[in-house]
Amino acid sequence: MNNAEILNPIKDLLDEFESRFYKELGSEHTGINDLVAHVSKFKGKRLRPALLLLSAKCFDNFQPQHIDLAIVVEMIHTATLVHDDIIDEATVRRFVPSMNSEWGREISILFGDYLFSRGFTILSALDSQLATMLMSQTVNILCEGELLQLQKRYNKDMNERDYLQIIEKKTASLCASSCRLGAYFAGANKDAMESFTKFGLKLGAAFQIIDDCLDIVGDEDEVGKTLNTDIKKGKMTLPLIKLVDSLPQNRKEDTYKLIYNSQDCDDNTAMMELLTEHDALEYSYGVARNMVNDALSEISFIPDSIYKETLNNLANYVISRRK
Ligand code: FPP
Ligand code: MG
Repeated sequence: MNNAEILNPIKDLLDEFESRFYKELGSEHTGINDLVAHVSKFKGKRLRPALLLLSAKCFDNFQPQHIDLAIVVEMIHTATLVHDDIIDEATVRRFVPSMNSEWGREISILFGDYLFSRGFTILSALDSQLATMLMSQTVNILCEGELLQLQKRYNKDMNERDYLQIIEKKTASLCASSCRLGAYFAGANKDAMESFTKFGLKLGAAFQIIDDCLDIVGDEDEVGKTLNTDIKKGKMTLPLIKLVDSLPQNRKEDTYKLIYNSQDCDDNTAMMELLTEHDALEYSYGVARNMVNDALSEISFIPDSIYKETLNNLANYVISRRK
C-alpha cells in the first residue's frame, strides 16, 4: 500500500485540509502569493496532519478545530523544512526546486518565518491556552534539536544516545504533539493522551532514522529531495555512529576522514561498502522497527477501528518506505 492508499479512510478530511491549507496562506501581495504558489507544489506525505486527524478519529469525537490544528502542524512543519533546506544547502524538496534554490536564502528565511507565524495566528484564534502552550514548547524543542545537531557536527564523541536525543527533539516532538492535540481536542482522558503522545514520539523517531538511512541509500529520483546531505555536512546519523562503533580503534580515524572529507564528493561507494560490511544500515532499520513496535503497543488499549488500523498501516509504512 502506498501513502495515499493507507490514508484513504480519512481522505475527505485530508481533502478539506488541503483545500484550506493554501487559502490560509494567501496574501494581498502577489509577490508573496508567488512564494505560496511555489510551496503549494510541495506535496508531502502529510504525516503530521494524518497523525493528528487519525488520533482524533480514534476517540470518535471529531471537532472542526481538528482541521485547523492539522493546518497549524503542517504549516509549522513546512516552515522548518524551508529553513532546513537553507541550512543543508539542499536544492530539491518534494520533487521540486527547494525554496532557497529558486528564491535565494534571504527570501527563504523570511518566507519560513511567514509560514511559521501564519501557523501560530491560526492556532491562537482557537483560543486554547493548552494548544498554544504545547505548540510553543514544541517549536522551542524542535529548534533545540536542530541547534544541538549543528553544534555536534564533526564531533567524534557523538554517540547513539546523543543522536536519539537530537531526533526526538527535531522530528519526533512535532509528531508527538500532533497526536496529543488530536487526542486532546477529541476529549481523551489524561492517560490516553499520554499514550498517544508516546506513540507519536516513537513513530516520529523511527521516521527520522529511516530518513537518515535513505539519505545514504535512497535514490534522489525516488525520494524527491537532495540526498547525501548528512555526510556532506558532517552530521553523524545512526548508521554512521554504528559503523564507527563497530570498527577497531585503528580503523576509526580513517573512517572519520572518509566521512568528514566527503563535502565535495558525490561518490559514496567506499562508505557504502563499509556500512554494508558492518551491517550498520541493517542495525539502524532494526532500531526503527523496534521503535515502531513500541509505538504500536502504546495505543493497543484503543478499541479496534478503521482509524486504529490506519495508524497501524501508517506506522508500518514509515519503516518500509523508499521515499
Ligand atoms: C529535517 O531534517 C529538519 C527538521 C525535522 C527540523 C528543522 C528545524 C529547523 C531548521 C528549525 C526552524 C524552525 C522554525 C520554527 C522555522 P533533515 O535534514 O534530516 O531532513 P530532510 O532529509 O528532509 O532534509
Ligand atoms: Mg535536510
